[in-house]
Amino acid sequence: MIINPKIKEKIVLALDVNTIEEAKILINELKDYVGIFKVGLQFYTSNGNELFSFMKKLNLKYFLDVKLMDIPNTVAKAAENIINNGADFFNVHALGGSEMMKKCVESANLTAQNLGRPNPIVLAVTVLTSINNEKLNEELAINYDVNDYALKLAKLAKESGLTGVVASVFEVQIIKQACGKDFKVLCPGIRPQWAAQNDQKRLATPTLAIKQGADYIVIGRAVTEAKDKIGAMKKIYEEIEVCNEC
Ligand code: C5P
Repeated sequence: MIINPKIKEKIVLALDVNTIEEAKILINELKDYVGIFKVGLQFYTSNGNELFSFMKKLNLKYFLDVKLMDIPNTVAKAAENIINNGADFFNVHALGGSEMMKKCVESANLTAQNLGRPNPIVLAVTVLTSINNEKLNEELAINYDVNDYALKLAKLAKESGLTGVVASVFEVQIIKQACGKDFKVLCPGIRPQWAAQNDQKRLATPTLAIKQGADYIVIGRAVTEAKDKIGAMKKIYEEIEVCNEC
């Protein structure tokens, strides 16, 4: 199969494993098909730094999914370290506010420029999918509908200079309408029809995600837990390839 680079740059593989050995096996097996490897809090807090050096030696891109939120100065300094360590993508909570987001992007871009690298992709998390209307209204005392609130935070992220947001496939169009087509949307909750649903609820196929305008799709267990991982990845490429809008 010829790997379509336009599809490859959209594929974000979630490295949700426990050991460095497991992560290295996945990377070595799938690197030709993956645009960005996603390292979340679980892995980062165990063996993150060792894995970053490994990926940088192979010239691979990675997304540090650590959802920063603190005072602006602290987040700006953390962003500097994240870029110095080699990340190409990372994210923050939009709930940290506009000053935090602006300082974070300024610091990340300046650090990348000093290293002679392109500006990183800095994404905002709006409302966590674990928060529903009841929790937002009663526990957090935020009197908004959860979808309206997520959109409000996406607009704040855009105004604060972030590259885009993390959102469900079902929100991509409305976010693009409000924030412009260049505002990037990265979508988790992706499942081909032939893969197990696991614990995910509002799922979309890779093809639907791309049709809706997702810039990046997070592929996790559909591939990482498949018996034939390369076969599963190839099927995803083939399905996206036959979709006209892609
Ligand atoms: O294996 P699966 O495809 O479900 O993995 C999805 C990845 O996307 C995991 O790393 C998960 O933490 C992440 N994610 C998610 N839903 C969100 C935000 C992130 O599934 N709302």
